[in-house]
Amino acid sequence: MSVLIQGGRIVTAADDYVGDVFIDNGTVSLIGESLDVVADKTIDANGKLVIPGAIDPHTHIELPFGGTVTCDDFTSGTVSAAFGGTTSLVDFCFQMPGQSFAEALATWHEKIERCKPVIDVGFHMAITDLKEGGSLEDLAKVPDEGVTSYKLFMAYKGAVMVDDETLFKACRVAAESGSLIMVHAENGDAIDVLVKEALAAGHTEPVWHARTRPPETEGEATNRAIQLAHIAGAPIYVVHVSCKESVEPIAIAREKGWAASGETCTQYLFIDDSYLDQPDFEGGKYVYTPPPRPKENQEHLWKALASDVLSVVSTDHCPFNWPEQKGLGRDDFSKIPNGGPGIENRLHMLYTFGVGSGKLTLNRFVELTSTNVAKSFGLYPRKGTIAPGSDADIVVWDPEKKLTVSASTHHSKVNYNLFEGTEVTGAPEVVLVRGQVIVENDELVAQPGAGQFVRRARFGEELTPTGKEAVAA
Ligand code: URP
Ligand code: ZN
Ligand code: ZN
Repeated sequence: MSVLIQGGRIVTAADDYVGDVFIDNGTVSLIGESLDVVADKTIDANGKLVIPGAIDPHTHIELPFGGTVTCDDFTSGTVSAAFGGTTSLVDFCFQMPGQSFAEALATWHEKIERCKPVIDVGFHMAITDLKEGGSLEDLAKVPDEGVTSYKLFMAYKGAVMVDDETLFKACRVAAESGSLIMVHAENGDAIDVLVKEALAAGHTEPVWHARTRPPETEGEATNRAIQLAHIAGAPIYVVHVSCKESVEPIAIAREKGWAASGETCTQYLFIDDSYLDQPDFEGGKYVYTPPPRPKENQEHLWKALASDVLSVVSTDHCPFNWPEQKGLGRDDFSKIPNGGPGIENRLHMLYTFGVGSGKLTLNRFVELTSTNVAKSFGLYPRKGTIAPGSDADIVVWDPEKKLTVSASTHHSKVNYNLFEGTEVTGAPEVVLVRGQVIVENDELVAQPGAGQFVRRARFGEELTPTGKEAVAA
């Protein structure tokens, strides 16, 4: 199957020019002006942007968490992602306490077998137990499975939180095995004290979620994790950075040339702590962790994105229905399942309010949502760019298309949208994954199963553009 994308404005992290893209057998074959080729399908991209498919490195699909399970499976989650212009995601495979890493991976592979994705999917390994379940030796073997990043939680005490010994040992294994350390950076011990005190004083409402997780708990843990990773010689990536206190230690480490990087998520750029303080448990919709922060943090995050202190915008898509699932904590904010949805609207929001306002250039928009993700997580240059030999994961983006973000029209199974009612300008017209048209003119064209599991390269190594052996069905 060949596809010709004709006359679009091709924008990558580095380039911006008008041309044609010829796709043959799933990869970009030729790029040029007025290509003289015959294709099975031609897409007219005049007046449109042609950008690398976005990659979401932070999702929680069908995750047992907080006493329930996130409500998207790998079919609904990836369909929703595709409608927003995301062509690959990397989901967190959780090692449940007592479980081996091999068992955890088998569980996640079963999920994508049962509910087949429409976009490509990779896994990170979320380490919760290096005592009873996983051993350091087994952890060192995880990258052999194409899973080349380890995530550790410094919060959620009594559930998935690890101590500093575990974090440090995992950093050492990462340094030796070519893996990237990812941290959920919050001081879980201090938060646990604050939560217990708040509940003892009778504070049960959602707004106490933020009041018991002050920004300093995030800043302290971010700094601690970066220092420990540096001692161990491991590269580190801080997930869901939400505030100035966490941006600062990343900036300092990067200034020193340390292998530290970080992401923020769409919601932290738009939603502040006032959203939690709404009557009738409405605030429960915004209970995700770290919590929405005071509004002034948003300017720090935008600046950090523009100056490359933060390199990626992800979604941390972790969908729980409201009030059915969120209501588990109606009388106790600490029991509200932590997480918010957002897999479909990352590009809509960033394009409209980032590129549209001049906070981000078009190249930076592509870099933050695709190229830097591919480079950080062992997918580049197969993914994250439009170049001969790379996977034809491409979005034909209509910069004029208007839509109103809403749970009534999004494709996730979740019944609310964090950005409900927001009017955006700019949306995908056609979405291709390895040359297959997945979404076209607001219709799902692909069947579940169009997506594949992607084995990722080790940290700092490239995923060769044409080596098909690195992608296992
Ligand atoms: O609230 C969140 N973010 N839930 C998902 C798990 C995590 O901490 O990333
Ligand atoms: Zn987290
Ligand atoms: Zn998360």
